[in-house]
Amino acid sequence: MIYPVREDTLLLKENVEKRELKGKKVLEIGTGNGLIARTMMEKGAEVTATDINPEALSNLPEKINVLRSDLFEEVEGVYDLVVFNPPYLPEEHDEDLNGVETWLGGKKGIEVTERFLENVSDYLEEGGEALIIVSSLAEYRSLVEEFDLEVLDEEKFWFEKLFVMRLVIE
Ligand SMILES: C[S@@+](CC[C@H](N)C(=O)[O-])C[C@H]1O[C@@H](n2cnc3c(N)ncnc32)[C@H](O)[C@@H]1O
Repeated sequence: MIYPVREDTLLLKENVEKRELKGKKVLEIGTGNGLIARTMMEKGAEVTATDINPEALSNLPEKINVLRSDLFEEVEGVYDLVVFNPPYLPEEHDEDLNGVETWLGGKKGIEVTERFLENVSDYLEEGGEALIIVSSLAEYRSLVEEFDLEVLDEEKFWFEKLFVMRLVIE
């Protein structure tokens, strides 16, 4: 099962589209349906897209460098921009979960995101940035403090609020 395009995908896409990406080296972790990776490619970036689910990697254009990887495990080099719309639902969430690994972010919904934030700076150029999606359904507040995340955008839906958060490497 490949994660479909949803509101979270579109919110991250909107924020990626605002950026000047021509000639930039970018990395998408957890590309799923691939829309964000394709958008960055169309904006002229040199794109690497990863997913832990091999099915997600079978349908991307040749120009995109694909890697099957658990977060950064197989990733090499440094990037100007790293984006990740992580699995962010807490494990007790009662939505009908089809393809568990694409939705669940650990007990509190932040464990995968936390692991990402602990490592992402090793893969960013100086002045590079990481953009992630964070949901109000997860226990996200501790992450904001711990990693000094900046809220770049937010959108309210009937059952949750989604944030695009940014981490900058000085
Ligand atoms: C919420 S979906 C986002 C998919 C797509 N980027 C989007 O925005 O629609 C999360 C994606 O992360 C992948 N994923 C989950 N855990 C991962 C991990 N540890 N390393 C890499 N990818 C992971 C899932 O397979 C899924 O494709």
